[in-house]
Amino acid sequence: MSKIAIMGAMPEEVEPIVAKLDNLQTMTYGANTYYEGVYHGQEVVVAYSKIGKVFATLTATMLIEKFGCDTLLFSGVAGAISDELKIGDLIIADGLCQHDLDITAFGHPYGFVPEGEVCIPTDVNLRKIAKEVAASKGLTLREGVIATGDQFVANAERKDWIGSEFKADALEMEGASVAVVCSALEVPFFILRAISDSADMDASFNFDEFLESSAKISADFILSMVDAIHSK
Ligand code: ADE
Repeated sequence: MSKIAIMGAMPEEVEPIVAKLDNLQTMTYGANTYYEGVYHGQEVVVAYSKIGKVFATLTATMLIEKFGCDTLLFSGVAGAISDELKIGDLIIADGLCQHDLDITAFGHPYGFVPEGEVCIPTDVNLRKIAKEVAASKGLTLREGVIATGDQFVANAERKDWIGSEFKADALEMEGASVAVVCSALEVPFFILRAISDSADMDASFNFDEFLESSAKISADFILSMVDAIHSK
């Protein structure tokens, strides 16, 4: 049977998922706790990486290489770039880029390094399942580029630049790392985020206020995705 990795960056992002698992076993490895369990008959391994691209790369790699997961679902919160995205709204990534990756001094575009790609696409089949789940729940799901960087963006100018440079609708701090790992290891992956703030001058206040509620919205959707994948 397949084993699904469910990853977040912060405890708040995975706790609503861990709370629903049967046969829970925990294992600490590489300074992360991994929660192995079963959700409605589906084997899953859940972990939060800690914030940022380096930690996310480590955790995604472990979930695949050490725990043998063959699908990876990411659940968490993001800052909105698009004005149409409001707090609590869901967005799935069709592709992920690194907004802070910069070797433009050598004539390359922002987000690009040789042998890499600016925007890494997510698995089309998982996106299709997400749209079916959203339709069955009567939820609106936006699909767009999500930009990742090792910065909490709380600045309208920076956010607008990321939006125009990468045609991104939302930003966060882990998704593109997961994309790099999963595409290199040929593991289908899916990135879901619920909006916690608008990456502007109010972002840190809004983030503190809405982290828990938005993380729960994303986590609940991910659990429905697990059901949908399991029943295929
Ligand atoms: N995740 C949620 N909000 C964010 C922001 N404003 N910047 C970076 N990551 C985020």
